[in-house]
Order: sequence, then C-alpha cells, then structure tokens
Amino acid sequence: MDFGLNGKIAIVTGGGNGIGAATCRRLAAEGASILVADIDLAKAQQTAASIVEAGGRAHALRADVTDEASVQAMVDAAVSELGGLHILVNNAGFTRDMRITKMSVHDWDSVVDVVLKGAFLCTRAAIPHLAEQKFGRIINISSRAHLGNPGQANYSAAKAGILGFTRAMAMENGRNWITVNAVAPGIIGTEAVTGLPHFPKIKENAEKTTPIPRIGESDDVAAAIAFLASEAAGYITGEVLHVTGGRY
Ligand SMILES: NC(=O)c1ccc[n+]([C@@H]2O[C@H](COP(=O)([O-])OP(=O)(O)OC[C@H]3O[C@@H](n4cnc5c(N)ncnc54)[C@H](O)[C@@H]3O)[C@@H](O)[C@H]2O)c1
Repeated sequence: MDFGLNGKIAIVTGGGNGIGAATCRRLAAEGASILVADIDLAKAQQTAASIVEAGGRAHALRADVTDEASVQAMVDAAVSELGGLHILVNNAGFTRDMRITKMSVHDWDSVVDVVLKGAFLCTRAAIPHLAEQKFGRIINISSRAHLGNPGQANYSAAKAGILGFTRAMAMENGRNWITVNAVAPGIIGTEAVTGLPHFPKIKENAEKTTPIPRIGESDDVAAAIAFLASEAAGYITGEVLHVTGGRY
C-alpha cells in the first residue's frame, strides 16, 4: 500500500525494539527517512542498519525521552542529519506492574514519566518545526490498558492521560495543519510481553477471548501508525485507533 511518505522525515522514540522498530521499518518502506531514537543506542543502531540494508534512509541516536536536553538534541538531529521533521511517533514506554499497595513512588514516577513527560517533551520540541512548514503528524502510543487493568495503576493512568494529551494537542495545533492521534494496541507479541513468565497463559487467554483469535504483531500496530502518518489521514485528528483484534 502506498501511504505517500516519500520525502517525509520521522522520529520514532523507542525505535530500537518491538512496536517502535516495526514502525521505523514500515515508515521507511513507505518512503520516509527515519531518526531511530532509543535510550539503548545499540538497539537503535540495529533498527537503522536493517532499514539501510533494505535500501532506506535512517539515522540512529541515543535519546532519553524523559530528559529535556536529550529530547532537544534528538529533534535537532532530525533536522541536521536528515533535513527536517514531519512525523513524530511517541512510542517509548514500559510497564512496572504490581498491586498499588506494593507500588513504590519510583515505580509510579518512572512509568508516568516515560509515557507522559516523554510525550510532552518530544511534542513540545517538535511543534515549532511542524508549525513552520504547516504540516505535521504526531502519533502517541497509548494502550488498551487506558480502560484500566488490575496491577497496572501507573501504566493505565499514564496511557489514559496520553489520550487527554492527544486531544488537547489536536485542538491546539490543527490550525497549523498538524494532526495528533493516538494508537491503542492490545496484547502485542513484543519481547516486553513474550518475556513475561506467564506469557503462555496470556497468549492462550487472548486466543480464546479476542474476536480476531490471536495476539497482535508489531506490524499490525505499525500499519495503523503508517496510515495516521499519511496524507490520507489529514482530516483525522484527536482520535484513538484501537489495534486490539476487537478485544476491550
Ligand atoms: N507490547 C504490547 O503488548 C503493548 C500493548 C499496548 C501498548 N504498548 C506500548 O507500545 C510501546 C512500545 O512497546 P513495546 O512492547 O514495543 O516495548 P519494548 O520494550 O519492546 O520497546 C520499547 C523501547 O523503548 C525504549 N525506551 C525505554 N525507555 C526509554 C526512554 N526513556 N527514552 C527512549 N527510549 C526508551 C526501550 O529501550 C525499548 O527499545 C510502549 O509505549 C508500550 O507501552 C505495548
């Protein structure tokens, strides 16, 4: 499918692994140049190398989305290394699951920071470039967990918060032809999930209870992101697209 991303430049945070890496590769296959940003430089380099090997254009950078200076350097690198910025995918995130009575302030802060502060800092740094050229696409990765999950108070709160942030940014930036949307994946078979000790049980349960009876793949999410990044999605903003196989 041609989503018309030729000549576009994208930053994908957490692009070294899982959904972020698949998104980098998909956007690159659609013609975009990719700044692969990850706190783990070696992983970012692996993703970038796979894109270059396939004939695409990519640059890898170590970036911590919770650090203001690091985020500014990331946006500056998109401009200096690749020539601009059109698409930002706020994907970096992780879980620290436990019941609330066992949850430390650090468990709370680290998850809320990477999801919410990360999206805030990256979006704030990107907007001036997008506004100036009167075109931009921001895609924030939420989760089905925004509806609430036991053992995920920190993660559910952050992933629900990202939806409010998405709608506020859609309203604030629409007049500069910038769209801001969220993608909410269900259970996706990335290392973060397949590495869990109870993964076989998660998979079996998902296959039984999901209308499309399988767990999701990173490529399922990347396809939704590529659509929202495209010219074709220019009249869609402030929305949340669930990629859950129909499971809520
Ligand atoms: N896998 C799922 O089932 C699932 C479901 C719903 C939502 N999500 C969301 O999708 C996103 C990607 O998840 P994944 O499963 O691919 O995870 P993953 O652990 O495979 O990849 C996440 C990447 O983010 C990077 N990262 C972590 N902290 C960072 C920071 N401070 N700055 C920059 N990079 C950082 C990690 O190094 C890693 O490469 C996350 O936001 C996650 O919450 C995942």
